[in-house]
Amino acid sequence: MTPDFIREALRQVRYPGFSRDIVSFGLVKDVKCEPGLVTVHLEIATRDAKIPEQIFQECHAILDPLPDIGTVKIEIDVKDAPTAAAGSTVGKSSIPGVKRIIAVASGKGGVGKSTVAANLAVALAASGAKVGLCDCDLYGPSVAQMFGVNERPMANEQDEIIPLEAHGLKLMSMGFLLEDRSPVIVRGPMATRYTQQFLRQVAWEDLDYLVLDLPPGTGDIQLTIVQTVSVDGTIIVTTPQEVALIDARKAVSMFEKVNVPILGLIENMAWFECDAGKKYFIFGKEGGLREAADMNVPLLGQIPIDMETRERGDSGAPVALVNPSKNKVSAVFHELAATIRAKLPVF
Ligand SMILES: Nc1ncnc2c1ncn2[C@@H]1O[C@H](COP(=O)(O)OP(=O)(O)OP(=O)(O)O)[C@@H](O)[C@H]1O
Ligand SMILES: [Mg+2]
Repeated sequence: MTPDFIREALRQVRYPGFSRDIVSFGLVKDVKCEPGLVTVHLEIATRDAKIPEQIFQECHAILDPLPDIGTVKIEIDVKDAPTAAAGSTVGKSSIPGVKRIIAVASGKGGVGKSTVAANLAVALAASGAKVGLCDCDLYGPSVAQMFGVNERPMANEQDEIIPLEAHGLKLMSMGFLLEDRSPVIVRGPMATRYTQQFLRQVAWEDLDYLVLDLPPGTGDIQLTIVQTVSVDGTIIVTTPQEVALIDARKAVSMFEKVNVPILGLIENMAWFECDAGKKYFIFGKEGGLREAADMNVPLLGQIPIDMETRERGDSGAPVALVNPSKNKVSAVFHELAATIRAKLPVF
């Protein structure tokens, strides 16, 4: 029996809810092999008592049946999940090293939140800022696809996840931690806990702007996110269609209730312009513009339906990477970045 052999065996134990194992997550701090006794020391940062318990049981299930192992002792140090607001277990915290946090939200799904979040992040980075993008959607993570990155991130010595990088951005997504095609089936309080843990355990280090791509809707998860980290402002994405506007209204009112500032509305898929220059208002005309005026929030931009935007979103090179003089949608995102920098300056 050697410590290396035990570590290898422990790679079969996964961190609950993640596809990664506890060894690669860096939780196994020490393994001692003495005659007739193997001692494994783990450190876990969580507030969820079930997680160490489950890991404890699974470690025993893997190690106990090994031949000639003798007694197995699993010691677990449970540390509180890190928060900036030391001492308080509830309440918002700022993320250490991150100057501004911007959330991109919508009431309705599929209106282009991820597209807006990704391209805003790219345009902010192009303006010289240090930018991170975090996909907070447990059920439909898309940042991995939009940036063509699929590696598993590594953990640092503090057990924080090190973000991946692409196009000069730091990227983090639930999608990076999940097995391909494995549907995540956490709901309710579990989903809330994962989300909190996820938000707090990424080593963003030094960022001017962190853009959060929220899942669609106005439920518990959205509330959890804005109550876990202190969001400087939210951008609400909508299409001009009435069904989307109704949900956008709900989103605005939810964020207002929890005192998260609304930076404004983005009207996406506002029109389609054919080669001859004629505009077709496929989802209705200027719904976002009217809604913004009705709700007394700024309209931050109107984005047409654009094939290059969709293609580039699917192929890992967001449209905002295109020179703004060559693509109208890229130009809108670069203007949006300038607006955000003016509203939320960093020093
Ligand atoms: N202006 C646009 N022109 C063309 N295609 C677009 C535009 N905006 C978004 N799309 C495309 O529409 C689809 C949905 O967009 P996206 O994934 O950004 O929406 P979402 O609001 O994040 O969706 P979900 O609610 O599922 O998270 C994507 O395939 C995207 O490429
Ligand atoms: Mg999305």
